[in-house]
Amino acid sequence: MLGVDDLSISFGGLNALSGLSFEVAKGEIFALIGPNGAGKSTVFNVITGLYRPSRGRVTFRGDDLLALAPHQIARRGVARTFQNTEVFRQLTAIDNVLIGRHIHLRAGVIRGAFGLPAVRREEGRARESAHALLARFGLDDVAGIEAGSLPLGVQKRLEIARALAAEPRLLLLDEPAGGLNPTETQTLMEVIRRLRDESGLAIVVVEHDMELVMGISDRVAVLDHGRKIAEGRPREIATDPGVIEAYLGSEDER
Ligand SMILES: Nc1ncnc2c1ncn2[C@@H]1O[C@H](COP(=O)(O)OP(=O)(O)OP(=O)(O)O)[C@@H](O)[C@H]1O
Ligand SMILES: [Mg+2]
Repeated sequence: MLGVDDLSISFGGLNALSGLSFEVAKGEIFALIGPNGAGKSTVFNVITGLYRPSRGRVTFRGDDLLALAPHQIARRGVARTFQNTEVFRQLTAIDNVLIGRHIHLRAGVIRGAFGLPAVRREEGRARESAHALLARFGLDDVAGIEAGSLPLGVQKRLEIARALAAEPRLLLLDEPAGGLNPTETQTLMEVIRRLRDESGLAIVVVEHDMELVMGISDRVAVLDHGRKIAEGRPREIATDPGVIEAYLGSEDER
């Protein structure tokens, strides 16, 4: 489904990614882990069209993503969340989800302004499915509340709900458990697993919480200074000497 091949990008003199390759299949949960600054978020920024790599290819269901703009990539079914949770703070939870859906609404803003019945019906359906999505994430109680006033754990779930409203085929999650307590992390794990099982979605997750990574991933790739130093099943990765070294090394540097 997703193919990343020989990707390199640098910022000034810093090689943020060097010759990175990996593949993600339909229905797979693939984790990208590694110390701070390893290049994990940069991978997402390249896949979603925000950064242009100096080398390499990114293909998604046969399309060359590097030839497309971010909104075209989104329309082809790639959705993401951000490391620094980005909900629309002044909008209610339900409106956040509705915005996530907008790329699929056929009725444009101008037609909408005339209040045509077909447009209103489409909006009604969108609102219904937004409510269903919120319910799935245990967010039905907060539908009418301003997103910015919700606790971080709830905002993080809302951000995933918004990403899913676009009905993606590939979901990129950047540190979904960041700032969550153990109970919230546990809930999140179950939500992510259920998503994959019910929808056949491919999910790439960047995460520092090893319990979450080991608990949900089919495969794990480890980045260090922009290079892939290991890839395999969670259990293989957890005992890989090179991986342990990379993590301990970065602890020393801090
Ligand atoms: N837009 C940018 N301009 C300059 N440098 C950048 C930019 N984006 C990323 N970098 C640098 O590239 C490297 C990789 O950054 P990236 O954000 O991908 O790391 P990360 O693995 O997501 O780290 P963390 O776990 O801390 O989020 C870092 O050294 C970072 O400072
Ligand atoms: Mg990051």
